[in-house]
Parts: sequence; C-alpha cells; structure tokens
Amino acid sequence: MKLRFSCCGVSCCATPSFFSEGKLDARVSQDEIGHVYDRLSGVYDIWGKLTESRARRRAIELASIEDGQSVLEVAVGTGLAFFEIVQRNPSGRNVGIDLSTGMLSKARKRLGKLSGVQYELSIGTAFDLQVENESVDLLMNNYMFDLIPYEEMDMVLMEFKRVLKAGGRLILVNMTEGEKWGSKLYDFIYNLSPKAMGGCRGVRLSEKLKSHGFTVEVREYHQQLLFPSEVILARK
Ligand SMILES: C[S@@+](CC[C@H](N)C(=O)[O-])C[C@H]1O[C@@H](n2cnc3c(N)ncnc32)[C@H](O)[C@@H]1O
Repeated sequence: MKLRFSCCGVSCCATPSFFSEGKLDARVSQDEIGHVYDRLSGVYDIWGKLTESRARRRAIELASIEDGQSVLEVAVGTGLAFFEIVQRNPSGRNVGIDLSTGMLSKARKRLGKLSGVQYELSIGTAFDLQVENESVDLLMNNYMFDLIPYEEMDMVLMEFKRVLKAGGRLILVNMTEGEKWGSKLYDFIYNLSPKAMGGCRGVRLSEKLKSHGFTVEVREYHQQLLFPSEVILARK
C-alpha cells in the first residue's frame, strides 16, 4: 500500500513506514522526481559544487576513461560529470539520460561549449534503458540511488548489468549514511522535509551490488560541507 501526501506543492509517496529494515527510505515518488528536479535545475549546480564536487571528481578519476569507449551516464542531471566524460572520450560513444527536462536543458547548454565531440542527451529512465545488451564499457550513475526506494533498486541494477559488457565498469556516487561528525545533519533535514533535500537520503550500495554479482573494487567515503557521499567502482 502506498500513502500519498502533499506539502510545499509536491506530493510525496511512501510505503506505510518511511524506513526499510531500519534505514531511511525514499519519500518522493519516482512519478514526481522529474518535476522536483525541473524546479531545482536552476540552482542545482551551486549545491552540486558545494557539497558533491570532491566525490564527483574522484568518480571521474576512478572511471579511467579512454577515448573510443562506450559510456552511458544515467541521471546525467545538469551534466557536471558528463562534461568531463565527453572531454575524455571525444570520439567514443557518450550517452546521457535523465528524467528531468529542466536538468537536461542545463546539460545541453553546458555540453554546447564543447566542439568536435560526440554525445547524445535524451529523456529516459534508469528502469528501462534504451540500450542494447552488453554494449557499455562504463556506466556512471551519480546521486540517483539515494532517490530510489529500496524495493525498486534491484530492477535498476538488473538493467545496469544487462547493458554492461563483461568486465565493464560501474561507477556509482550516492549520498550515503554519515560516518563522521556532523554528517547526520542532512538526515535530520530529510526527516523534516524530504523535498528540502531534493528527495535524497543516505544509502549504502556495496552489498546490493555484490548480491547482483558485481565485484566491488573500491568503496570510499567522502564528506564535503558535512554532506556524506560514497564513491564506488564495481565491475560486472
Ligand atoms: C541529485 S540529481 C544528480 C544529477 C547528476 N547525476 C549529478 O551528480 O550532478 C538526481 C538526478 O537523477 C535524476 N533521476 C532520478 N530518478 C531517475 C531515474 N529513474 N532515471 C533517470 N534519472 C533519474 C533526476 O531527474 C536528477 O536529475
């Protein structure tokens, strides 16, 4: 059973408990997420640079991108990571998808500054990737699983596994559970108003990845302005 309620003009959807096995669960429905990020698109880069830039930079390093690869970024947002990916893979295949038209239009503007590069940006969902089986060398996905209900994460990971080549790399960055002083501040804000956090709550993905047969090679904790992130490199 799903409960729907509304505040700040955005309806939320939740299972009867806001917790899954004692962990905070998603409280903004996937039906609403696109609209939430349409509204946030104008200010997202400020947040992204203040609290997530170190984790995102580390993700790009770990991705070890070489020109000529097939790269898919799911939940590309305003293109903060995609810009770096495309610069490193100018003649490869670069595909970015997102649910939010507002975020995508910012990404298009950012990528328009590059010339002599190949890329595609389109509306799409992580639950149904319009990508052939075993065709992707690198799949990057930043700050999206922290919006997905626990019970729906398996569907997304099955899609990720389907499109990755054998040995392909999966880079994930998420808001994670706080491990250092002050990092619980954001859980506190989320509990008061999930939308104030753009629907993000802390998650830990390593065990779930292993249960889908991924090999987790790196899992790092990064904290910036008290905001806790995990950066994961896994292989199919
Ligand atoms: C917190 S933002 C992160 C954007 C970008 N990855 C970054 O790190 O700057 C979350 C993004 O995930 C997108 N998103 C959420 N659920 C999605 C889904 N199921 N499929 C594709 N995109 C999704 C939202 O529209 C939003 O642009």
